Amino acid sequence: MKLFRFQLRFLLPVVITLTVASLLAFPAMEALTQRWFSRDLNLRGSLLASAMSESINKAVSAEHADRLRPLFERTLKDERLAALGLCGPDGTLLLTTPEYPVELSCSQANALAGVTPPRLVTETGSFHVATHQIPLDSGLNAEIILLHDLSFIERRTLLSRQYFVIFVVSLGLIIALTVVVSAQLSWNTWMKGIRGVLLRQDVVRTPKTPAPPEIPADFAADIRAQLRDLEDEYRRKQGGDEYWTAARLRSLLRTQLRGDQVIVVSNREPCIHDWVDGNIVAHSPASGLVTAIEPVMRACSGTWIAHGSGSADAVTADGYGRLALPPDSPEYTLRRLWLSKEEEAGYYDGFSNSGLWPLCHLAHTQPVFRETDWQLYRSVNQRFADAVIAETRIDDPVILVQDYHLALVPAMVRKHLPRATVISFWHIPWPAPETFEICPWHAEILQGLLGSTILGFQTRQHSQSFIQTVDRLLEARIDHEHSVVWFHDEGTLIESYPISISWPAMEAHEPSIQHTGIRQQYAPNNSKIIIGIDRLDYIKGIPERLAALEHLLERHPEWIGKLVLLQVAAPSRENMPDYQAFKSRLELQVQRINTRFGKPGYQPVHLLARYHSHAEIQALYRAADICMVSSLHDGMNLVCKEFIAARDDEHGVLLLSQFAGASRELPEALSINPYHVENMSGSILKALLMPEAEQRERMASMRMTVREANVFRWAGRMLTDASRQRLRRRVEQRVRRYHKA
Ligand code: F6P
Repeated sequence: MKLFRFQLRFLLPVVITLTVASLLAFPAMEALTQRWFSRDLNLRGSLLASAMSESINKAVSAEHADRLRPLFERTLKDERLAALGLCGPDGTLLLTTPEYPVELSCSQANALAGVTPPRLVTETGSFHVATHQIPLDSGLNAEIILLHDLSFIERRTLLSRQYFVIFVVSLGLIIALTVVVSAQLSWNTWMKGIRGVLLRQDVVRTPKTPAPPEIPADFAADIRAQLRDLEDEYRRKQGGDEYWTAARLRSLLRTQLRGDQVIVVSNREPCIHDWVDGNIVAHSPASGLVTAIEPVMRACSGTWIAHGSGSADAVTADGYGRLALPPDSPEYTLRRLWLSKEEEAGYYDGFSNSGLWPLCHLAHTQPVFRETDWQLYRSVNQRFADAVIAETRIDDPVILVQDYHLALVPAMVRKHLPRATVISFWHIPWPAPETFEICPWHAEILQGLLGSTILGFQTRQHSQSFIQTVDRLLEARIDHEHSVVWFHDEGTLIESYPISISWPAMEAHEPSIQHTGIRQQYAPNNSKIIIGIDRLDYIKGIPERLAALEHLLERHPEWIGKLVLLQVAAPSRENMPDYQAFKSRLELQVQRINTRFGKPGYQPVHLLARYHSHAEIQALYRAADICMVSSLHDGMNLVCKEFIAARDDEHGVLLLSQFAGASRELPEALSINPYHVENMSGSILKALLMPEAEQRERMASMRMTVREANVFRWAGRMLTDASRQRLRRRVEQRVRRYHKA
């Protein structure tokens, strides 16, 4: 249809030109023909007149004009000559042949012969009128009138008009045919060329795709440049890179992904309902994943499938495990998936948190891999994949698979929804190949993840480690230039997308808490406050942080009574013996420090080992002089970004572990090595003494970074890449269909 319209654009001007030309040409042509015939008849007439002049002279001079009748009749045998008339010197008609029109006098004949065309129309037909003088012996002139039948001229004109029409139509047809054939040929070549360019640019082209036809390099480069310009223009229209907002993300979904269905699947749910003293209490879990995904889901309005882990989760959802969130102004659907105690123990505590978690974090905790855990991990992953498939309404939804709990889900989903766009994100670090090889099911995990269209990591280093791991452990082809891993004819783009937080911060849906209350409660003597906000996890470097504080108070006793550490330790993985033991060790350590440096009215460390609401955490961020993130290893760590976002007063110092992914983005923080106690305590001291102006300068710069690289940008970049992949696949499919047709 498009090709037809394209050809019509050429044909229409041709048809119009030919029609206009014909309309203009007809009268001109007829006038010309008439002139030619007229000249011809005049010539013939003068020849006849001169041939007859002698006879006419004799007869008229002898006043016996009627003697000329036989001559006139013989002359009339010429088929084109219709009638003859003879006028005497006085202008009277002396002789006429039978067909001569009685109403035509000599003077009228002379008048008609002088105009162009010299034409007489009577009841019997139309005639060409010509008069010729015949000199007489008397010195006067007789005049012969010749009337030629014009019907033959009209017949010829009609005939030539028909020939002309046939000629114009044939010419039109030949032009149309030439245009159609050449347009078809150029279209094919053009499409082949475009396809070649697209395929060469397409990072997820399957190896089976036939090699694109050779087209001139300049031309290909030109098309690619044009495509890039179009893309840039589109992005510019979408807004500058620095201002990603929920609204922009929503519009990206509507425009680039045409509002396609979005499904998020993760182990952790965004809202947990528990029974507390006979009442249902909702709380948001301490999870970087939830902090990041929740605002994205609000913007995208999709479905979030997650494990319903709260004791009151079943009674707060409908019969399908569904509930709308947030409860006061619903923006997306949470679909809870129920796990048995056995499943939870094998899949979550077992394979995910005793196996993969310590394997991926360099925290020197030995991973434990048990066959039974693996079996449960596999079957639970299948259950999550089935839930995703059950939730899809279209055959090409966008599915966002989150984290190490669900590594097998991408391939499981891909099997049933081959056209789906599966974007997987690995929130924790990816280890070195030789470390990952320790997992007995490393190949299955890698294959599961390679069911994704895009596989995202927090840092470039993690994505590179993944590619190296595939290179070492799997029979796959790696396109290093485009960062694409080819496995079983499917390409997966491996990219780094540093996760972040919402900016501006989402409304808390809770009454805000004054941070001055915290100062009064924990730092009455205007002491400096250090905060640590973590899940109670051994990777967070909490004991190391305590050791650094102890070292500082030991070396700088002037700070005793003037410095407190408020350590929030959100309960985590409480069923796991390792975590229980870790909590006990931590409590003992805190007790020891408090006994050593505490005094009446002063306790250097407050271990707040309970859930804190969003509002409580915000108040802590605002009350702090220093925020300490001392993870031994962390995918990203969003606590530091939340602290920065909360400090619109541009006050406060961030101490950030060099082993947290966030350290790559925040060089203005004071970098610390949690394995080096002196380094850490020195950094705490530096932070305590940092001038206001320096604090402000560093904080302002970090706020700019987090504001720009917010979570909408994180999701926006992934969705943009995904939509580009989808677009390329659609173009590729159309081009293939077109070529088959
Ligand atoms: O922040 C990284 C992360 O792995 C999250 O993805 C996850 O929610 C959390 O840590 C682990 O905590 P939990 O086991 O309570 O979900």
